[in-house]
Amino acid sequence: MQQKKWWHHAVVYQVYPRSFYDSNDDGVGDLAGIIAKLDYLAGLGIELIWLSPVYQSPMDDNGYDISDYQNIAAEFGTLAEMDELIAEAGRRGIRILMDLVVNHTSDEHPWFIEARKTRDNPLRDFYIWRPARADGSPPDAQRSYFGGSAWQWDEASGEYYYHLFSRRQPDLNWENPGLRREVYRMMNWWLERGIGGFRMDVVDLLGKQVDRGITSNGPELHSILQEMNRATFGSRDVLTVGEAWSATPAIAKQYSDPARAELSMVFQFEHISQTFDPEAGKWKPRPFDLPAFKRCMAKWQTALDGEGWNSLFWNNHDLPRAVSKFGDPGRYRVESAKMLATALHGLKGTPYVYQGEEIGMTNVRFPAIEDYRDLESLNLYRERTAAGMPAAEMMKGIYQNGRDNARTPMQWSGAAYGGFSHVRPWLQANPNYAQINVEAALNDPDSIFFHYQRLIRLRKESELLVYGDFVLLLEEHAQVFAYLRRLGGQALAVVSNFSGQCVECVLPVSLRDLDGESLISNYAPRERLGQTVSLQPYESFIFAFRCEDAD
Ligand code: GLC
Ligand code: CA
Repeated sequence: MQQKKWWHHAVVYQVYPRSFYDSNDDGVGDLAGIIAKLDYLAGLGIELIWLSPVYQSPMDDNGYDISDYQNIAAEFGTLAEMDELIAEAGRRGIRILMDLVVNHTSDEHPWFIEARKTRDNPLRDFYIWRPARADGSPPDAQRSYFGGSAWQWDEASGEYYYHLFSRRQPDLNWENPGLRREVYRMMNWWLERGIGGFRMDVVDLLGKQVDRGITSNGPELHSILQEMNRATFGSRDVLTVGEAWSATPAIAKQYSDPARAELSMVFQFEHISQTFDPEAGKWKPRPFDLPAFKRCMAKWQTALDGEGWNSLFWNNHDLPRAVSKFGDPGRYRVESAKMLATALHGLKGTPYVYQGEEIGMTNVRFPAIEDYRDLESLNLYRERTAAGMPAAEMMKGIYQNGRDNARTPMQWSGAAYGGFSHVRPWLQANPNYAQINVEAALNDPDSIFFHYQRLIRLRKESELLVYGDFVLLLEEHAQVFAYLRRLGGQALAVVSNFSGQCVECVLPVSLRDLDGESLISNYAPRERLGQTVSLQPYESFIFAFRCEDAD
């Protein structure tokens, strides 16, 4: 069995600071706002906060464009408040994960300001520069993820620089040892302040080799991470999680096998990408296919068992709201949100809850593109409608998969702006805050919030939930996701109906007519599992029983 870690039992909560809570009524969430809500988070039971970037930044990409890694953006607060957040969270048993965005900086970072001055500037090589082709065009046809060429012409120094995201996010050159040393120094500075680890932005891009057109999974990626581990967090008991859209199970093992001393785990996105069109990507959503999803999850559960670690998530600040994407945001919002929580938290790995997920916040449909703020949506809307895509079709993609779905202000109460602020927020609140809000959730013992609280508590208490093996059941069933977790003669059956219909499923012979107990459910608890299990719309439960042949 693998070496135990404190974070195996923990649940992480992601805070998107801009949208969490505005303490000083300027319409933007801030650090003091997070401190004010720490008791709420402690009540939920989470043990880590992944803090999306709060560093100094011109906010071209809401802070994922950093101009000073060792300072806090004025709109979010001060370094003293950051220290206070670390300390106040610590007092409540909560650690802070900083978002490490080192694939690129802001174009306002002093390194880039220096680097672009002249071609022989000592910091020039911290970034990626190439001459124009004879006709003045970019060195090659590589594209930015946010639309347009990956190359931006720099008039003053007469070369192109490379940017995989916006042109205001120039990519750092990880082949430069001086750059790597500077980043490690900065990471240690944060570790010294007492943080609980890092979430690493687009970590799979760090080993890129631009001239060979290699972006993700470059040949040096894992040696870079091993070097980083030795130089920074390796000697400390922290959690590190890399964002890796390109990870396969084999690659995820390389990142997260403790023997290789790289990261604790990665976010993989295979279950998410399944809902995107293979060619047109997220702007052309594909319907959710449960059997394919089950095969995917089972593959990851099995592949990483004992030799790595999974992260478990439905959504984050880049993705649509879980209940809108995978559940029913209408009639069965409460049932389906609880079902999704159970289906995910029953798995082996570390669960991540994105702010508002615990009250079942939903996607938003603003009527006009002008109501949106996310530069990815805005850029691609402009680019694709100009290329002939009907505006209505692009809006449909934005409604389903746009990033602002996750970024509308946290809904604290039924008061104006959802209680997020007393003034109009930077991005409008979802009008459904009148019904869906924290205050209402805390007043209802049957709420989604308390369901999450129970799941989080179960994970703290149950070795079986944390370390039990995984066995997929009913592989081909079109509506039901069911699996076993087994450890030392004990087992859990986690059974979830992903549909709004009543369905029946027939369990394998070895599981029929079992006595046991429901650890959690979103309908009436069960004391027995019959041969045929009838499930209500979006019903799900975790059923605990003794099982002879498991170990
Ligand atoms: C990651 C972040 C996303 C950001 C991008 C560039 O994908 O999660 O929000 O825009 O990297 O930093
Ligand atoms: Ca504020």
